[in-house]
Amino acid sequence: MTFTYRIADIQLAEQGRTDIRFAEHEMPGLMAIRREYAGARPLAGAKIAGSLGMTVETAVLIETLVELGADVRWATCNVLSTMDHAAAAVVVGPSGTPERPAGVPVFAWMDQTLDEYWWCHAQALRWPDGSGPHLILDDGGDATLLLHRAVHHEKSGVPPDPAQAHNAERAALLRLIADSMAEDANRWTPIAGGIIGVAEETTSGVRALRRLHASGELLFAAMNVNDAVTKSKLDNIYGCRHSLIDGLNRATDRMIGGKVAVVVGYGDVGKGSAAALAGQGARVIVVEVDPICALQAALDGFQVTTLDEAAPMGDVFITATANCQVIRPEHMARMKHMAVLGNIGHSDVEVDVAALAAVPGIRRRTVKPQVDEWVWPDGRSIVVLSNGRDLNFGNATGHPAFVMSASFTNQAMALIELYTNAARYPVGIHRLPRIRDEEVARLHLDALGVRLDRLTPQQVEYSGVPADGPYKSEDYRY
Ligand SMILES: NC(=O)c1ccc[n+]([C@@H]2O[C@H](COP(=O)([O-])OP(=O)(O)OC[C@H]3O[C@@H](n4cnc5c(N)ncnc54)[C@H](O)[C@@H]3O)[C@@H](O)[C@H]2O)c1
Repeated sequence: MTFTYRIADIQLAEQGRTDIRFAEHEMPGLMAIRREYAGARPLAGAKIAGSLGMTVETAVLIETLVELGADVRWATCNVLSTMDHAAAAVVVGPSGTPERPAGVPVFAWMDQTLDEYWWCHAQALRWPDGSGPHLILDDGGDATLLLHRAVHHEKSGVPPDPAQAHNAERAALLRLIADSMAEDANRWTPIAGGIIGVAEETTSGVRALRRLHASGELLFAAMNVNDAVTKSKLDNIYGCRHSLIDGLNRATDRMIGGKVAVVVGYGDVGKGSAAALAGQGARVIVVEVDPICALQAALDGFQVTTLDEAAPMGDVFITATANCQVIRPEHMARMKHMAVLGNIGHSDVEVDVAALAAVPGIRRRTVKPQVDEWVWPDGRSIVVLSNGRDLNFGNATGHPAFVMSASFTNQAMALIELYTNAARYPVGIHRLPRIRDEEVARLHLDALGVRLDRLTPQQVEYSGVPADGPYKSEDYRY
């Protein structure tokens, strides 16, 4: 079988396959899904387009979806997140060779331009016969965004003007849509019309979906995977607790203990980040706008203050807010010489690198890939990681496989649910039931040697909680 794909180097496949084999061992949830559905193949006939970091762990997810019967195409959700050897292994597939690839069409490589990024999405979303997917797996909402923007412009018949975009990434998207409309004025509308639903992986993507739904523009059903407890309360917290430090160490190899680390945003990601930095012995300062999260940070033992006050104090700054222009040049100008700035939240907007680049006289000196020193005319500098994009991907390899197994088991379940029970999910934002969350957690216990206790019949009667779950109500917060 030959098919079109675009990756860095297919000869890296063998190395990728070795890492995939190691990851499979650490992903008990996904492997259990493979075993459970081996005969039923519930995704047979489903075309799935993915926009999610093309890592080794994602490779295990992709190959799980294929084993469940799906026809999959893939792009990355982050220009700096692709592991080129994993992409190569997925293209080659478990039974193919670099000469005769028999896997999945992947359109992803490390360090893409923004135009390449959106081009890859357009490839992942269109099959060779011009048709589109039944399902999207999105991380951050970019595949969903492309479709919604394109449909909007195709409906009006007026192509977008990239000059009107508020940032470079959006301008590249608008360029792609304008070019596509010049070729075919009605390319994306039928594709969007054929979509049953999207499973969304992260906080920012869910927020974008909520906005689309509130404005009446949402075109298909959405499964909010992020707010599965076994996603946001594991991946966002424990995944970041692991991969933040990994990224900082690979980027700078500086001592973290004893330093002042400023964590901006104390949601799930901020909590994992602050715990990791404190675990290394850093003195952590938290910046928050939400009084509940600020109180949590204070009770966890962290100093909580404004970014304005923290700016001259920090040695390391980490953003985790899902917001834009959080650390701005006016903060950066007051930071210690060689302070390190990294983002583990949303895309490249939290640390305002675009505004930094526009500071008169400032110079960018690349120390090594994804580590830049920005030098003011007086010689003072700061160190920006991954150009403001997620440093745990740009400077490291993302979350460990075990935590991704929980996230991706939810993804697989969400896609099966959308595909096999589509009528239950009208246009809107849905979540898997709590009992599924408990199932995902259960699938990961044996690997850790965890033994669960069991409610007695008397306790079941007294508490009203079934012995086999669900153990908590849908609104329990964990
Ligand atoms: N890099 C990764 O591996 C990874 C993993 C999971 C999630 N994420 C992303 O991280 C971001 C945060 O996710 P989350 O689940 O923690 O979200 P969250 O909503 O739980 O937390 C964000 C926090 O930031 C605070 N905040 C917003 N604007 C602020 C500002 N200007 N100053 C200070 N605080 C501010 C909010 O009050 C909130 O408490 C999202 O964009 C999410 O998509 C990244």
